[in-house]
Amino acid sequence: MIQQVLVDSLIKRRSIRKFLDKSVERELVLKILDIARWAPSAKNAQPWSFVIVFDRETLSRLASLSPSTEPLRNAPVAVAVIGDPIKAPLTYMIDCAVVTTYILLAAYAYGLGSVWINALRYQSAVKEILEVPEQLVPISIVALGWPAETPIPPPRRELLELIYWEKYGRRKYTQKD
Ligand SMILES: Cc1cc2nc3c(=O)[nH]c(=O)nc-3n(C[C@H](O)[C@H](O)[C@H](O)COP(=O)(O)O)c2cc1C
Repeated sequence: MIQQVLVDSLIKRRSIRKFLDKSVERELVLKILDIARWAPSAKNAQPWSFVIVFDRETLSRLASLSPSTEPLRNAPVAVAVIGDPIKAPLTYMIDCAVVTTYILLAAYAYGLGSVWINALRYQSAVKEILEVPEQLVPISIVALGWPAETPIPPPRRELLELIYWEKYGRRKYTQKD
């Protein structure tokens, strides 16, 4: 049986950068993170922690870091995903990327809009603003809120442009079925 709702969600989720002036309950954020913590991670290390930010001044400081962090200015809440290179030296960034994706999808499931903000580029500033310990790395900040826009889906590369058969570079399928 196909889980059609899940399939539709994977395709229909969009990055939302404009949010209604309407608060998001603390409980709802916790529900979303309670789902996201089921994300897979290498050796199940779960090398992540979350900083939930409601404070407007903090959100404004993060928003001011660059044009790409601007969506945080009108987001009622954000979740910073903090990676732990000691727990998973080789994979902490990948693991945190996966859990970030789970946050986006769990938010979508509850009707919340979200956008992934890259924290890696502004690591030291984000660390200072959120008082993250030296040995940890802020990977992403997810802006969350009730959607105030319905973006046109940004195009995706064609499937046939992405796939090879059996060996890299082989465009033609030659196996017998
Ligand atoms: C690793 C990563 C970093 C991103 N960084 C930013 C960002 O800093 N600011 C932003 O507005 N969007 C950011 N995005 C969102 C992408 O721009 C967006 O996912 C992409 O354009 C596709 O649009 P869609 O999410 O609506 O399908 C990021 C997405 C990913 C996966």
